[in-house]
Amino acid sequence: MVTSLKQTMDQLAQLVMSDPNIESAFLATLGNMEEVAAREIIKTITHETPPEALVEITQHAQDEHRHAFQLRALKPVKLYSDLKFYAMENELSEIGINFVLGFFGQQLLLKARSASRFAGYVHGALTIEQVPLQMYTAYYKLTKNEAIKKGLAVVLKDEADHLALGRKFYETLSAEARFDIDEINNIEAEMCELLGRRMIQVIEKNLNPAKTETKSLESSLTKSRSRLTTWILALAENENKNARAQNAKVLEDSVLFITGQTKEAFKVDLTPDLTALSDFSPERLHQHMSALASETTLIGVSYALEQAQRGLSLNQASVSL
Ligand SMILES: [Fe+2]
Ligand SMILES: [Fe+2]
Repeated sequence: MVTSLKQTMDQLAQLVMSDPNIESAFLATLGNMEEVAAREIIKTITHETPPEALVEITQHAQDEHRHAFQLRALKPVKLYSDLKFYAMENELSEIGINFVLGFFGQQLLLKARSASRFAGYVHGALTIEQVPLQMYTAYYKLTKNEAIKKGLAVVLKDEADHLALGRKFYETLSAEARFDIDEINNIEAEMCELLGRRMIQVIEKNLNPAKTETKSLESSLTKSRSRLTTWILALAENENKNARAQNAKVLEDSVLFITGQTKEAFKVDLTPDLTALSDFSPERLHQHMSALASETTLIGVSYALEQAQRGLSLNQASVSL
């Protein structure tokens, strides 16, 4: 995974630096992601926050907020002459923001958060920094724009300090409030790689808009969040029926990324969707999960679908053995 993360980040950086318009859409996206991260950090401050940590956590959020402005200010093109770059910037921002929210919503971080909001913050701070470190570094190495290089160096220095802050706080947590950082880091690396792949896909799609006019089942399912929710629940139920409980769980959990609620909140009749799914051949189901994963802008859902798709492959492999 480490190799493919690096490869994807290099490929993304290569594509980004090929055109100042793409660089601008990308920098705006990073800025928007930083802003959401700043808000998520502030939200972790509660009565459970140790008073001696307050100033540093607030400072951390302020740094991310400042990064948002710094990164946007580095855009080499402020006004695009071609409208397609506005669309690119919007779409990149949407998946970037959903990545940040999806990352903070993943199960292991929720578990840490249930120990205390402070523990949730510490585990998040220790792991989310992989994105800037991997993505910004790959781009930093390749860009020829001196102003961007200088600006990114300042941001990267802060990100390294945030990681050190997370490590310092982690040491102060009680044994019960400490969770496996390596495990969260692995998920983060996979999600980060997925984010990079999706960004490449969005950039390429917007560079050649005519080619990708599709009216597929997958694109219609992603038009409304409530429709996507019931369909994901039906997919999960279908996995249960086929004795793939692990896959069902992963899909059910991902409903949180779509609605902010767990599956218990939904009392819906899944019969029509389950009937439709019963006609799917194993190959069709495989292909459908992959297509839906690349269609939805909700990175947390996309990640769950890719995991379920992998689960299907493993299952098929063990059946044929
Ligand atoms: Fe940052
Ligand atoms: Fe940071």
